[in-house]
Order: sequence, then C-alpha cells, then structure tokens
Amino acid sequence: MLAIIGGSGLTQLSNLEVSRREVVRTPYGEPSGILSFGQIGGKSAVFLARHGHGHTIPPHRVNYRANLWALRECGASRVVSVASVGCIRKGLSPGELVIPNQILDYTWGRAHTFFDGDGAPVTHTDFTEPYDAALRNILIKAAAAANIPLRDGAVYAATQGPRLETAAEIDRLERDGAEIVGMTGMPEASLARELGLPYASIALIVNHAAGRGDSARGIHFGQLETVLHSATDKVRTILSLARTPDRNLEK
Ligand code: HPA
Repeated sequence: MLAIIGGSGLTQLSNLEVSRREVVRTPYGEPSGILSFGQIGGKSAVFLARHGHGHTIPPHRVNYRANLWALRECGASRVVSVASVGCIRKGLSPGELVIPNQILDYTWGRAHTFFDGDGAPVTHTDFTEPYDAALRNILIKAAAAANIPLRDGAVYAATQGPRLETAAEIDRLERDGAEIVGMTGMPEASLARELGLPYASIALIVNHAAGRGDSARGIHFGQLETVLHSATDKVRTILSLARTPDRNLEK
C-alpha cells in the first residue's frame, strides 16, 4: 500500500476516498495525527498530514519516527512525501514541481534513528542514494502521463527551521551544491530507509530562497496560497496516476 505524507498545503487529499481513519500509537510516541485509509486512483493508500490536521506541528517538532513507524505498522510498503520548498538554483521558480534525487542534511537535535538506546545494535544504513529510484520513476512517469511539467532531480537541503534562512546561509547551501531547501526532508528520508521503506518526494517550490529572486529583500509568502493551490492539484493528479510497471502501487 502507498503511504502519502502531506506537508504544508496538503493537509488533506481531496481525491482520497476515505474508508477508515485510525489513531495509531507507536513505541516512539504519537504520529502527527490520524491516519486516513482509502483509495486514490483505484489504489489503496494511507494518508498522514505531517504537520497535523490543523497544521500545528512545526518541522522541528514533527515526530518523524512515530510517523514512519505507524505507516509501516499499518501496511504501507512505499512512502511518497509531499513537501514545500524554496528554490536556490537559477532556472527554478515558484510553482514548479521537483523530484529530488539527493539530500544535504543541516538539521540537528531531531530523533533521527531507530537504532538508538541501550542494547540497540550498531547499524550503519546505506544512504548513498537517499530516494528510491523505482518510486521516483513512477512519479515521473505519472506526471508525464498527465502532461504535468516536473523537474527530474535536485539536491534538497534540509534545514532546521522553523525560521527561514539568511541570505548568507542560502549562499553557503548553494556552494555546498543545494538546489532547493526545505525543513522536513530529514530525518524522514533516512528513517524510511532504516525501516526498509522505499521513499521518494514531490517538492513544490513555493518561494525563492532568502536573498534570491523575489526574495532578494525578504521572503513574503503573499503568493503562497495561489502557488500551493495549483501545485497541490497537480500533486493529487500525479498520485492518482502513479502506477508500477506491472500494475499499480498496491501491494
Ligand atoms: N526555506 C526552508 N524551507 C522552506 C522554504 C525556504 O525558503 N520554503 C518552503 N519551505
């Protein structure tokens, strides 16, 4: 079953025909909210709003471990994350969708591993390719089938938040190779990997990063609602069309 973790702008999936909602508890505490089970494009799916139903949980307080654990406990076999980002690289602009292929992690102090605590085995998880190639391809093909333009590949920088970055910090991220920036991509991606869950992300560009383009003098999310609205419609279409080569995302 496909799991979808929705970020800002995607606190609900209007094309998910919900058949059941479930409160799940985990050894790591409570996930961000109720899990909604249903069908999307004829396939089983489970949806979780990363920041809670009323968007009350900031990025540094999301219980990423509980979220991933709960989704796996409930039968998720793959996870697609939807997240809003700022764009750093020239040529990218608000409104575009990106399927990132690499990660730089600048977060700190978040519970970032399941291999923790007394007696836990020392485990070094391979994370060379942080996103699942097959799942990325499924999303890219679904977008192509619906004629939705989407950029294949970008280096995602995960910052701690909740404040936005300084212009100098964005300059540093760019020197490091980052092309887009968000606050929730880590440790979500690495925790999914620790659980063996294929994970990919759809990043919605909602603003120019600090000091760039429209944000040269500050970030004003004035256009945010409009940008988010049209981008999330596209995301919903992509998710409903996502199919594995054999049949679909159902497992
Ligand atoms: N920086 C960090 N996270 C974000 C941004 C940004 O500019 N836009 C959306 N999420």
